Amino acid sequence: MSTVAKRQVKFHDYAPTGSDFLAEVVEGLSRVPKKISPKFFYDQRGSELFDEICLQPEYYPTRTEISILQHNARQIAALIGAESVLVELGSGASEKVRVLFDALSPASYMGVDISKEFLLLSTRRLAQDYPELEVHAVCADFSQQLELPVQAQRGQVVAFFPGSSIGNFEPTSALQFLRQVAACVGKGGKLLIGVDLKKDSVILNRAYNDAAGVTAAFNLNLLQRIQVELAAELELDAFHHQAFYNPEQSRVEMHLVSERRQTIMLDDEVFELTARESIHTESSYKYSLDEFARLAGKAGFAVEQVWTDPAKMFSVQLLGVH
Ligand code: AVJ
Repeated sequence: MSTVAKRQVKFHDYAPTGSDFLAEVVEGLSRVPKKISPKFFYDQRGSELFDEICLQPEYYPTRTEISILQHNARQIAALIGAESVLVELGSGASEKVRVLFDALSPASYMGVDISKEFLLLSTRRLAQDYPELEVHAVCADFSQQLELPVQAQRGQVVAFFPGSSIGNFEPTSALQFLRQVAACVGKGGKLLIGVDLKKDSVILNRAYNDAAGVTAAFNLNLLQRIQVELAAELELDAFHHQAFYNPEQSRVEMHLVSERRQTIMLDDEVFELTARESIHTESSYKYSLDEFARLAGKAGFAVEQVWTDPAKMFSVQLLGVH
């Protein structure tokens, strides 16, 4: 008897090009204050470092979300229904979705991620472990546009957006993004989303400043990418990681802080940094359940069910297009 996986991963490449990376970094360094999008964290090394962040004792979101999914998998599956087209946005290692597969038995799975090699590895592994499942891998920057390969859209589309990645969007962009997701899943479609909740800032500050320094390495890896891939001249050792909760904006901010006055040379342009000037690399917005329900409502979704952990640190929410 053969146990060889019959199905291969169907790969769809809408990957952003290197010139998008350069143009966006140049634009971001020209701003006041300086800013670079967190989507550029995720090269191969960045994706690996992110997986390591998820294992740090201070970083509660991943393990809390997985435990919420495990505890409620049957109910989630019952509300979603079988034979759906499950589209995971920012699929990364495609680990969380495995928690749902046994209960859910979807018709097909589509992983969408910006990190190509990582995406291919993870979806291939998934196809091997679930030989009956039709698996698609879409390399795309879904923050720009959400276009899914049409041949894969047989069945009710259910989007899966775990990890509170929605927190990376500014509130107005989050609204636009959710509207796009609503259009993409269509009438009767659903979105299963992980949303990190507001909490004591001590817990938040610890979660983004782990003692092992993995989050710092993850943040600094962005500068290394800029140095290596874009041939920028900069002093890597003269930057340090900074992360803190900003209660006025309800967000954790990550910055790369220049320890002294220096210049970054990139694409024949010179960017001056003063001592202690920072480059804002990430915002991670935290929501109350009410705030998120309001946001979802404006985007055309109704909150159908909310699951949380006992300490109400994190939520998994099922939204339906209304
Ligand atoms: C993947 C965006 C949800 O904001 O918590 C983790 C990324 N940054 N540690 C988050 C991240 C620093 C993460 N998201």
